[in-house]
Amino acid sequence: MRRPAVWLLSVATAALLINSGDAFGSRSFWFEGLPDPPAARSAGTPSIAWIEQPVDHFNPRDNRTWSMRYYENDQFLSESNAPILIMIGGEWEITPGWLRSGQMYNLASTYGAMMYYTEHRYYGESYPTNNTSSENLQYLNVDQALADLAYFIEIVKKQRNLENSTVVLFGGSYAGNMAAWARIKYPHLIKGALASSAPILAKADFYEYYEVVTVALSRYSSQCSVDVNDAFLAVEELLQTSTGPETLKRFFNLCNDIDTSSWQDVASLLNTLAGVFAGVVQYDAVDSTGQSSVGRMCDVMTATYLGSPLQRLAYLTSWSTCVDTSYASLVEAYINEDWNSYAATSAMRPWYYQTCTEYGYYQTANSDKSVFGTLFQIEFFTELCKDLYGDYYNEYLLDSAVTRTNIVYGGLKPEVTNVIFTNGDLDPWHALSVLEDLNESSPAILVMGTSHCQDLYSDLSTDSAEMTAAKARVRELVGQWLS
Ligand SMILES: *[C@@H]1O[C@H](CO)[C@@H](O)[C@H](O)[C@H]1NC(C)=O
Ligand SMILES: *[C@@H]1O[C@H](CO)[C@@H](O)[C@H](O)[C@H]1NC(C)=O
Ligand SMILES: *[C@@H]1O[C@H](CO)[C@@H](O)[C@H](O)[C@H]1NC(C)=O
Ligand SMILES: *[C@@H]1O[C@H](CO)[C@@H](O)[C@H](O)[C@H]1NC(C)=O
Ligand SMILES: *[C@@H]1O[C@H](CO)[C@@H](O)[C@H](O)[C@H]1NC(C)=O
Repeated sequence: MRRPAVWLLSVATAALLINSGDAFGSRSFWFEGLPDPPAARSAGTPSIAWIEQPVDHFNPRDNRTWSMRYYENDQFLSESNAPILIMIGGEWEITPGWLRSGQMYNLASTYGAMMYYTEHRYYGESYPTNNTSSENLQYLNVDQALADLAYFIEIVKKQRNLENSTVVLFGGSYAGNMAAWARIKYPHLIKGALASSAPILAKADFYEYYEVVTVALSRYSSQCSVDVNDAFLAVEELLQTSTGPETLKRFFNLCNDIDTSSWQDVASLLNTLAGVFAGVVQYDAVDSTGQSSVGRMCDVMTATYLGSPLQRLAYLTSWSTCVDTSYASLVEAYINEDWNSYAATSAMRPWYYQTCTEYGYYQTANSDKSVFGTLFQIEFFTELCKDLYGDYYNEYLLDSAVTRTNIVYGGLKPEVTNVIFTNGDLDPWHALSVLEDLNESSPAILVMGTSHCQDLYSDLSTDSAEMTAAKARVRELVGQWLS
């Protein structure tokens, strides 16, 4: 199977890499795991462990179990009632980094806490079922994953003789939803939670995502969003001509011919191209020279010496090995039910299932305020649900699933105490998160000029004053829960 390597040519630096290996440019489909922070100098060695969990927490007639994986680090564990801090894994494989550095690690150091990082069922190596058939994916949902977390807390408390310890959760992105929702569901087990960049409102047609991407480009330079718009319009125009598809194939180094009679092939191409911008904006970071990834990308998009806006877009993507954007290949890649297949190891098959059955979150071009053309709409995503999991998983199921998620968890207005909601206003996901205090103990902290989950990292020399203050406030509030 061919995979796209997506990267920038001359301006490529580690921070800006629109990193490769993420398949089909479909980055915009999912959140992507949180990159590990660099280990602190004195970091201990987190170890892997496993516990048994029920396959189905809500059916007493089903007594099957499976092994859930987690990391633990007890290097700061001091006394018998020491706090327990848990980093929650979302739709990715857990890695030891979050137990070696970051905001939670620093808090553990201050308060002598036990640290854990849990793996979400169906991701990494936490396999509740034999494979990822649609039948088996019925046990993949946040309700089950939150129950896993509750059982996890009970089990490790007993294991470590920490029955009376205070538990605080940390989560970013989808795992941020889990942190907030776990506190709502299991307040007797959890004292408080940090929900970083948590899109707690489920929404099928999430067109706001690309609106925020557009704002991020415009904020760097208005010419940037103008030129991106021109480039996308040029792509759409070429698709209407007889030789245009061949030109685009050459420009973007596609492996496949573009079948313009297939709206799904067309949507897949545009979605892939827009995904390049999504990836850079969502993970925007400032390097040591003070330049942001968005800035470097916009410098290419507005560089007239590189030719037309379309040519600049081609230059920007510069896929070194050919990229397969055909819809058939997309389906083929993610329909495989084997745990060892790319469908599972990329997290895409399980995560996309969760979007079809719980959240939507489909990042469409359905807005005048975004600059990525008009050719990828909600139907593209709902058709993919059907093609990957079966006709049952259609737009009606999606609508009732989204409604259910918001009824059960309270949408943007859950009644909850001791949950801190942090967001960056340049993170496209903030449009679905809590931006105003819910309660004096559940504040919203919106950091200007910041992208996805940045507040989970330790203080950085490149942090803005506002970010530094936000991180300090989180430490102070968590400190109050722990003392
Ligand atoms: C699980 O349930 C089945 C069917 O009721 C029963 O035969 C089996 O002994 C149970 N297994 C365990 C470990 O309880
Ligand atoms: C997985 O398959 C094995 C046989 O290959 C079977 O014994 C087992 O019950 C299956 N597990 C689940 C959870 O379906
Ligand atoms: C998936 O696992 C189930 C048992 O859980 C089994 O019946 C089915 O045949 C498996 N599918 C594939 C494609 O192996
Ligand atoms: C937890 O608190 C209870 C009630 O105060 C006490 O009996 C028990 O010994 C404590 N457990 C530990 C491990 O400290
Ligand atoms: C926050 O929640 C607590 C507990 O439910 C309640 O006593 C308090 O009045 C709430 N504060 C606000 C500002 O809503």
